[in-house]
Amino acid sequence: MPCSARHAVVTGASTGIGRATALRLCRDGFHVFATVRRDTDGQSLRQAAPGQLDWLLMDVTDTDQIAEVARAVRDHVGPAGLDVLVNNAGVGLAWPVELVPLDRFRWQFGINVDGQIAVTQAYLPMIRQAAGRIVMIGSIGDRITMPFGGPLAAAKHALRSLTDALRLELAPWNIRVILIEPASIRTNAIDKLDRDVKAAEHDFGPDGWALYGDAFTHMATRALAREAHGSHPDAVAAVISRAVHAAQPKTRYLAGKDARLLATVARLPAPVLDRLRRRFFDLPRPGSAARTGGARGRSVTAGAPPRDTRTGSPRSTSPRSALAADADARRT
Ligand SMILES: NC(=O)c1ccc[n+]([C@@H]2O[C@H](COP(=O)([O-])OP(=O)(O)OC[C@H]3O[C@@H](n4cnc5c(N)ncnc54)[C@H](OP(=O)(O)O)[C@@H]3O)[C@@H](O)[C@H]2O)c1
Repeated sequence: MPCSARHAVVTGASTGIGRATALRLCRDGFHVFATVRRDTDGQSLRQAAPGQLDWLLMDVTDTDQIAEVARAVRDHVGPAGLDVLVNNAGVGLAWPVELVPLDRFRWQFGINVDGQIAVTQAYLPMIRQAAGRIVMIGSIGDRITMPFGGPLAAAKHALRSLTDALRLELAPWNIRVILIEPASIRTNAIDKLDRDVKAAEHDFGPDGWALYGDAFTHMATRALAREAHGSHPDAVAAVISRAVHAAQPKTRYLAGKDARLLATVARLPAPVLDRLRRRFFDLPRPGSAARTGGARGRSVTAGAPPRDTRTGSPRSTSPRSALAADADARRT
């Protein structure tokens, strides 16, 4: 006998927002297919599930696995199709753009962008049958880019564009495509960022660390503190549940602490926004690490170290000490 429940697929359901969403939709009465990458995560979800929940192993970069899981879901839902797909799986990446290894850059795009599209393509025939909904988990980072958050923000900007295109292209079939933009959610992503930050001094190499180490550390300290006081992932799951059930869903939903504030700040003119970001992340002032005296390339007198414009004392041209000196000056 065919299953009469409404069906939802949630990717990246092992932890955080994905897990909270899978359990929430299950509680809402959906029969949920939650995709994870480890058996133990699937078993843990199953134990916690308040209703019908099946877990399946899927890496969003593995096309064979995507096809296999989609086949299993199609065999179950039959001609009724799929009501909801939540594209949640994602990774973060914090690096200076100058230093980010291109294989790492491509790896995170492969998950955060290509992976979402590959999964969406696999389910679209089923979603069309049900006139279902696609929920993309973007980020407030698709409106405002943080220093050293360029790679991740770029991926989320790309996902936002693709979401816009999908929404327009799929409207003739009454398929709604909804973007969720979370900010500051307390999840495992914080521990992952913390690990990356601890490895940064080694990963950047001595030259890279001399250029960016201080500024990166300031950024990371601020970002980790903000995330640690972020919202519970259930807050995002509740927003997704609202978007899934709304008769007329909005195209975008903000979710989590700070989301509304950041969305407002993101509309400021770029120079004002730059000043705010610089101050918030305790970044060095423009020109403070430059080797020449000004924008027109006034050269520093050979043999004499440049002078600190505030104290008049000799200043080192080493970028690292220039950054440190600048930070010290701002703290005093
Ligand atoms: N936390 C925030 O403040 C925040 C803010 C804005 C946006 N977001 C977005 O929310 C989504 C969920 O993140 P989260 O904060 O809940 O972090 P999380 O707890 O680290 O969850 C990330 C999920 O993605 C899965 N994943 C990673 N790589 C994958 C791959 N190649 N294939 C399949 N699954 C993969 C992880 O599985 P494993 O456990 O197997 O690694 C995990 O289930 C992401 O898209 C993230 O960008 C989060």
